[in-house]
Amino acid sequence: MMQMRRPPRVSMSRCLGVFLFIGCFLVPASLARFIVEKNSLRVTSPEKIKGTYDTAIGNFGIPKYGGSMAGVVVYPKDNKNGCREFADFGISFKSKAGALPTFVLVDRGDCFFALKVWNVQKAGASAVLVADDIDEALITMDTPQEDGSSAKYVENITIPSALIEKSFSDILKKSLSNGDMVNVNLDWREAVPHPDDRVEYELWTNSNDECGVKCDMLMEFVKDFKGPAQILERGGYTQFTPHYITWYCPQAFTLSRQCKSQCINHGRYCAPDPEQDFSIGYEGKDVVLENLRQLCVYKVANETHRPWTWWDYVTDFQIRCPMKEKKYNKECSDSVIRSLGLDMKKIEKCMGDPDADSDNPVLKEEQDAQVGKGTRGDVTILPTLVVNNRQYRGKLAKGAVLKAICSGFEETTEPAVCLTGDVESNECLENNGGCWKDNVANITACKDTFRGRVCECPLVDGVQFKGDGYSHCEGISYS
Ligand SMILES: *[C@@H]1O[C@H](CO)[C@@H](O)[C@H](O)[C@H]1NC(C)=O
Ligand SMILES: *[C@@H]1O[C@H](CO)[C@@H](O)[C@H](O)[C@H]1NC(C)=O
Ligand SMILES: *[C@@H]1O[C@H](CO)[C@@H](O)[C@H](O)[C@H]1NC(C)=O
Repeated sequence: MMQMRRPPRVSMSRCLGVFLFIGCFLVPASLARFIVEKNSLRVTSPEKIKGTYDTAIGNFGIPKYGGSMAGVVVYPKDNKNGCREFADFGISFKSKAGALPTFVLVDRGDCFFALKVWNVQKAGASAVLVADDIDEALITMDTPQEDGSSAKYVENITIPSALIEKSFSDILKKSLSNGDMVNVNLDWREAVPHPDDRVEYELWTNSNDECGVKCDMLMEFVKDFKGPAQILERGGYTQFTPHYITWYCPQAFTLSRQCKSQCINHGRYCAPDPEQDFSIGYEGKDVVLENLRQLCVYKVANETHRPWTWWDYVTDFQIRCPMKEKKYNKECSDSVIRSLGLDMKKIEKCMGDPDADSDNPVLKEEQDAQVGKGTRGDVTILPTLVVNNRQYRGKLAKGAVLKAICSGFEETTEPAVCLTGDVESNECLENNGGCWKDNVANITACKDTFRGRVCECPLVDGVQFKGDGYSHCEGISYS
């Protein structure tokens, strides 16, 4: 069975698969200085192996950014690689009331990392340590891409996981086989730097809404996180910047059919064909253009000091302009831009001419930004969240990401949303949240919710108005 030896490259697994001849023309702008994000594991007893060891945070499950977790290490007698259900061996890791949580040590190999973690979680443990099986530097454990059967459980993984070096695992195993009780502390408090009272964070994202599980999870996250993201940004607590990965087409192929359909600016900026099939649906070029539009929406909104409008645009675009309904196009995005009161002319000017045989400054900047700087490695996994210049590892879920961002504030400077989780966005007060409104009757489709505002046709005096909530809603007239 396949195992990720190296961090997967963006979309490369697709391009190496069935459609080799299509996707592999494209080259990512950064070829990859991948930094493995670490936290630390402290052995607190027995005395003779006490010490602090580096571990690599798995890119799924819910790491406890800003926190730490104590537990007792168990190395199972059977199913040591965790590839089968522990129940089949009569093994359970549930700790008794009042006892320390169980951290299960499993061996690397024979199945996906995520499956091991899932099996351990189902058996009732609180964290997983995966022992590397060769002597090498730590790597990041990732989920298999677009693998239907794993998608079902990856989403439900909630316990944190960490890869440990082989040499360290040998020490643990030896101590356990001597009958020692091994106490450890997994610590994420220093996983994100927290120098001051503002957090800078980036999301490397993509407007493609038809790439399977990863796209679905990303869209779900953006929708969920919009509320807290806007509160943090409006309060001046964070500076958020969206980013988009592009590829380029090697010079020799810029005139090929593949490059023409996947790229703009003569092969300079490309995205893989969403369906990996040139004859149907959307082309890579459509994705690059929409990514560019979303960047420009951000730039123009930022210039007018409303950078948070980007979240409204991308979530509305997802709802109103999906590929499935063949609405993933300029006309539909223009209507979203208009309803949010953004300056269309400025956005078009920012986008420039996609047919020009020259650089596009906005996309050029994105390609440069893909290359890592300082403590941040190259961005190669999509989506990637970067908090205070460190890549976030773990499931992109509202609570977990909010924790990671909140752990980026200097202690005692955390905004209220970090301490209560209680957020109200009041977005309908401004520009009616971009939703439908009838000024004469003074009714609106805008509703404030915990998750940010939604545009839903209202119920007025017992009449349910119907429509898309953005540009029209209609009630039934009796006169
Ligand atoms: C994952 O969780 C959802 C919601 O709780 C549940 O419906 C689904 O069956 C779970 N999937 C697996 C593989 O356990
Ligand atoms: C957004 O605006 C802020 C403040 O006006 C500025 O410092 C920042 O560089 C801008 N970001 C981008 C990506 O244009
Ligand atoms: C419209 O309705 C809102 C809330 O229902 C109210 O606060 C506002 O004053 C009304 N405006 C007008 C012009 O009647």
